[in-house]
Amino acid sequence: MKPLLPIILSVAAIAWPQAVLAADLEAGKKKARACRTCHGIDGIARIPIAPHLAGESQVYIETQLKAFRNGKREHEMMTVVAKGLSDEDISDLAKWYSAIEITATLPE
Ligand code: HEC
Repeated sequence: MKPLLPIILSVAAIAWPQAVLAADLEAGKKKARACRTCHGIDGIARIPIAPHLAGESQVYIETQLKAFRNGKREHEMMTVVAKGLSDEDISDLAKWYSAIEITATLPE
């Protein structure tokens, strides 16, 4: 029986985060409605002064949202938006936008 335990544990470790991720993504997509006028649900910016968020790294998005929330980074629109976000909101939103796959076409 002994050798089986590490296998079970490693399978659980692989399967569990994926189950969590699907729920987080669903939550992130819903929460992204608050961002859509400027960043789009798909993370492609709708206004010229807003950056695209699609495919941006999860760590970067989380870091920036926390910086807006705690005042380290300031912007008249984002400071207001970030003040209303919990750590869980930030994590879900970052997972959503970072999970969007993007492709780049270089100019000729
Ligand atoms: C009213 C428009 C508006 C809304 C709504 C809005 N944003 Fe933004 N967001 C901006 C603008 C403009 C910037 C660029 C800020 C700057 O120039 O420093 C920005 C920047 C960001 C950045 C930093 C990106 C980078 O490249 O550094 C993140 C992350 C972000 N927004 C996430 C969100 C999320 C998540 C939501 C929804 C909860 C949201 N924003 C809602 C306008 C908006």
